[in-house]
Amino acid sequence: DMMREVLGLKELERKLKKKLPVEDVIVVAGDSDQSPWVKREMGRACVSRIKHALTGNDIVAVTGGTTLAAVAEMMTPDAKYRDVLFVPARGGLGEDVTNQANTICARMAEKAMGHYRLLHVPDQLSAETYQSIIEEPAIREVLELIKSSTIVIHGIGDAKTMAERRKTPPEEMQKIEQNEAVAEAFGYYFNQDGDVVHKVNTVGIQLEDVRHVPCVIAVAGGASKAKAIQAYIKQANQCILITDEGAAKRLVRDD
Ligand code: F6P
Repeated sequence: DMMREVLGLKELERKLKKKLPVEDVIVVAGDSDQSPWVKREMGRACVSRIKHALTGNDIVAVTGGTTLAAVAEMMTPDAKYRDVLFVPARGGLGEDVTNQANTICARMAEKAMGHYRLLHVPDQLSAETYQSIIEEPAIREVLELIKSSTIVIHGIGDAKTMAERRKTPPEEMQKIEQNEAVAEAFGYYFNQDGDVVHKVNTVGIQLEDVRHVPCVIAVAGGASKAKAIQAYIKQANQCILITDEGAAKRLVRDD
């Protein structure tokens, strides 16, 4: 920790804690927009925070994205994970296979030597088919597990970047732009005040549910995500933020 003090990371954490309504903040060195290894450092910090938060029979829900993929890569086995169940937080959100919550969930659980359950609900379905699929007992069971998560680990993205990455249809794209969305998390798009302006329809954890989860860890870095982090945190309730110097420096500067 002496090193982190010397590097000014501790000071950034103190400033961020004053500025944002978070339970705790961890800032790692570097900017993940510039250097890909910084995501792994956030991953390492996140893994140690997860271990710290485990209480016994935890259900850990994870979202998708490249940052969460880095968290999974940094996961290490521990006897503490023997009774831990990993689940994806929500159904398909239009990500490529490597960035999907299901893939990340399985990878994380394997590395932790814990257990996992996946959610097999395709992205593009008619309302009718969708309704019958979620009534399938096997799917319902996983959905109930997800709703009883004790720990949620999620990414935050820049709204425009995420809408483009997901190949969002033009009408929805317009809605997202017109409503000045700046942040995205869990398939929800937020404006700079933290209000939801658009939502992707899928099963799994809903924003209201997240507020009741005892431990929520948001992992997001890079100067380009500063605005998104700030907007998302405005509406979040007691989350632990794991970020990097790039985002942190811009966050303490901007007003
Ligand atoms: O699509 C899943 C997701 O967690 C989004 O909610 C979030 O905006 C995004 O991934 C973050 O992705 P990345 O870590 O690659 O920036």
